[in-house]
Amino acid sequence: MASSQLSVMVQPPTGRRFAADVPLRIGVAVGTFAALPYIHLQLEARKRLYPNVPLLVHDDHSPKRAELNALCTQYGADFTCNDSRHPPHKGDLTVFVSGLQWARERRLDLLVKLSRRFLPIIPWADSLAQLAIKSQYATFNSWTKTFNFGFRSECVGMAVRDWVQEQSAISARITEPGTPFVEAFIHGIARRLAQRNGEEAKTYDRTVGERPPAFSGYAVWDFMGTDRATRYPGFLWHNSSQADDYHALSREWGLPYNARDFNDPNQGFGNAPPRNLIEIAERYPRTDKRLAKHGYVRHYEEVFGSVRDRVQSVLEIGVDSGDSLRMWRDWLPSAQIIGIDNRAHSCVNEQRIRTIKGEQQDLQLVPLLRAAAPGGFDIVIDDGSHQSAHQIASFTNLFPLVKRGGWYVIEDLHASYHSRFNRDGVPSIMQFLAKALDTLNANGAWVSASTPVAGQADFSEVRFFRSIVFIRK
Ligand SMILES: C[S@@+](CC[C@H](N)C(=O)[O-])C[C@H]1O[C@@H](n2cnc3c(N)ncnc32)[C@H](O)[C@@H]1O
Repeated sequence: MASSQLSVMVQPPTGRRFAADVPLRIGVAVGTFAALPYIHLQLEARKRLYPNVPLLVHDDHSPKRAELNALCTQYGADFTCNDSRHPPHKGDLTVFVSGLQWARERRLDLLVKLSRRFLPIIPWADSLAQLAIKSQYATFNSWTKTFNFGFRSECVGMAVRDWVQEQSAISARITEPGTPFVEAFIHGIARRLAQRNGEEAKTYDRTVGERPPAFSGYAVWDFMGTDRATRYPGFLWHNSSQADDYHALSREWGLPYNARDFNDPNQGFGNAPPRNLIEIAERYPRTDKRLAKHGYVRHYEEVFGSVRDRVQSVLEIGVDSGDSLRMWRDWLPSAQIIGIDNRAHSCVNEQRIRTIKGEQQDLQLVPLLRAAAPGGFDIVIDDGSHQSAHQIASFTNLFPLVKRGGWYVIEDLHASYHSRFNRDGVPSIMQFLAKALDTLNANGAWVSASTPVAGQADFSEVRFFRSIVFIRK
């Protein structure tokens, strides 16, 4: 008999959360706003792979709620819905509250809260039950190397008897002003509950070994993997799988959807997807290209907005937090994004993003970049050291890698006027560019420039805005 089938009528002995001799009863609460195709996949997955696990779908008052309810009835799943729509992230917290209420009424031992696009594709309940019994923790989760988060909210296992005591704290956070950071908030509760751990949990901790304090407060659920941008065999998740992957599975399972149905989970009813780079940049507060900082996004939108669907390859020198690379990925749906940075902690490798560690002025980068983008780059951006000598060396080395019709962008040209970014005897980047323009116009050919440029670079168009230049090949 599957371990999820039996009801626990007696509480586990004091000091322990889960009895080893009574199969645990596990349920799932899936939070959503619309996303009917994704919920259909969730219901089908449960029917095929873990049919004995009861499932609740909780909708944040979307216009699709009646259809979701009907679908749940068809699949023998439960359905609840908020009375009104919630602001960002608070809707996610309502899933914890209503899921725990449902779990208590059903006398479940363990509740797993799933995001709509976290789709299990293997049976997982027995391994969770084993982990619960072995660890005697109240929470089951994993960290992610992406963003270096110590907790994830897309899949959270919870001991119902502990977590129902936290329902009012979660409800209070929903009514308080301000946008909650769901991962940190739920992690805070998990840590609090872990303080009540007994000896068995401590023994389990020793089997896990040393983990940073930021990655503690829960038993590590292997199923989730430790990087949300990596594809694991047990589930689909939108940071590591594409809409096409969900569509392929829905076809395999005979569901009536086409590829487009998986592109917008909100089915046209959610917050409107950001329309342009200026809006997308607001998701990424750590890039200074945003409107409120240097405002370069306006110029990128103006120059590339009409061709964004066709851009295939972007190289950016200077990664820092990785937020600008993520912004390019979101804005340029077909592009592979490559970053260069000389600091190890700026090595960002996520879906469609790869970072190469190196000095931007180093000629040895050229063969690596040729191999990374054999067809050349549509766009190269220099947002690295802002040292004129480095900008000139990078331009000389990398402009030849730009596709014909592609662009080379240099940011923060104001550094050209600061001694900190310039060395005696080396032209400033503005002097270099002025010379290039002089030569281009005086001779009609770059080749006779007195400041030679490797690769005999030829420009077809040059556009200066405040502190930034776009050079077209
Ligand atoms: C201004 S930040 C990049 C910001 C990022 N493009 C954004 O918009 O979020 C500059 C980055 O360049 C990197 N850097 C500085 N000197 C470099 C060099 N010589 N070669 C490669 N990277 C360098 C730094 O480590 C830093 O992460």
